[in-house]
Amino acid sequence: MDKIIIHGGRRLKGEVQVSGAKNSALPLLFATLLASGKHRVANVPHLRDINTVEKLLRILGADVVRENGSFAVDASEIRSVEAPYDLVRTMRASVLVLGPLLARLGHARVSLPGGCAIGARPIGLHLKGLEAMGAKIALDHGYVEARAKRLQGARIYFDLPTVGGTENLMMAAALAKGTTVLENAAREPEILELAEALNKMGARVEGAGSDTVVIEGVDELRPMDHAVMPDRIEAGTFMVAAAITRGDVLIAGVIPDHLEALISKLKEAGAEILEGERGLRVKGPRKIGSVNIKTNPHPGFPTDMQAQFMALMTLGAGTSIITENVFENRFMHVCELQRMGADIVIEGHTATVKGVKGLLGAPVMATDLRASASLILAGLAADNTTEVSRIYHLDRGYERIEDKLRGLGASIERVKEPM
Ligand code: EPZ
Repeated sequence: MDKIIIHGGRRLKGEVQVSGAKNSALPLLFATLLASGKHRVANVPHLRDINTVEKLLRILGADVVRENGSFAVDASEIRSVEAPYDLVRTMRASVLVLGPLLARLGHARVSLPGGCAIGARPIGLHLKGLEAMGAKIALDHGYVEARAKRLQGARIYFDLPTVGGTENLMMAAALAKGTTVLENAAREPEILELAEALNKMGARVEGAGSDTVVIEGVDELRPMDHAVMPDRIEAGTFMVAAAITRGDVLIAGVIPDHLEALISKLKEAGAEILEGERGLRVKGPRKIGSVNIKTNPHPGFPTDMQAQFMALMTLGAGTSIITENVFENRFMHVCELQRMGADIVIEGHTATVKGVKGLLGAPVMATDLRASASLILAGLAADNTTEVSRIYHLDRGYERIEDKLRGLGASIERVKEPM
């Protein structure tokens, strides 16, 4: 197993290019199951989760050719409709095959994802929506067994704006008979991109990005030809890296509109953020201001940036209150930050972070994807050496992060852990 070693205390400088967005590439690649023929999805990042998608598409029978960040997927011959437990438990987004398979083939068998480090993460809202569209859903030995001759358009109200639920039902509704209305839908940029790609395939999706999405079903879709947008969470992570090291970094390729909440909080913390043609330039503050954040569905402050922002607040000049409203168990990074000398007290889903003068390097352990990013950021700012283990979590969502950080002047390397 690999670990990452960081010698902290260096100010980051220079330019870093953002990769394609993981949380957009996943639904886009699964959307290829909606239509036969050769699809092309470009700017796909090299990540462990993308490898899992590739495996799953092949298991279902799709022909997949991967070259330089481009996927050519031919989903004409689907031989299986089963997403096996072994894959789904490693990547819960695999449940996004449910909508496309059910809509196109009238049958899907998908393992229930089970629990996750950051929360229970049920998929009840996905299933409720598919049932409203006429699907027969049964649970069988840990699998969702779903069948429908042809899905019917329906009006569906989400109890909460679920990203995965909105994506699954948008894909299902694209081939349904009649019109589907999704109310209290998620508004994340990834939803807009999926709608754009579906419309390129001949679907009729309107209102994506608002809380009401209307999908008029069509009988058939054509192959997709689409390039994945930049990863706003990877970009946000580099913005915090510039701030926490008091550095000066140009994040190239980022779309500022996707990160308004983060940009305003970083400015409140004293960072200077300049929008330019090539991206965003972030100059870290000499004195980091302590600010409060509350995570919420988009356009609120992204939960996927909470851990990274907490790392920054550990060095704030005062006290910061961080409230996690989206997931019930997303403070796993706190214990590890405390091992580095951070002063954090958790009460329910609120963390009170009292800023300290400096962090101390230490051996720490990653527990989930964004928690691992926050430990890397803390290590960049800490005195001495930090060793982050269990970085397979990091590799799920960050493409060559240590190379990119080294390119900005960080002293960071990946090493094999002795067996
Ligand atoms: C997506 O997960 C992202 N993953 C997550 O990013 C992100 O944290 C999350 O959206 C919120 O922004 C991908 O896009 C692959 P949800 P998803 O359905 O779709 C509850 C990362 O770090 N809920 O919007 O699973 C759920 O438990 C990952 O890249 C139900 O109760 O998130 C959670 O508390 C982590 N019932 C809340 O809604 C349901 O049927 C939001 O979940 C569905 C969800």
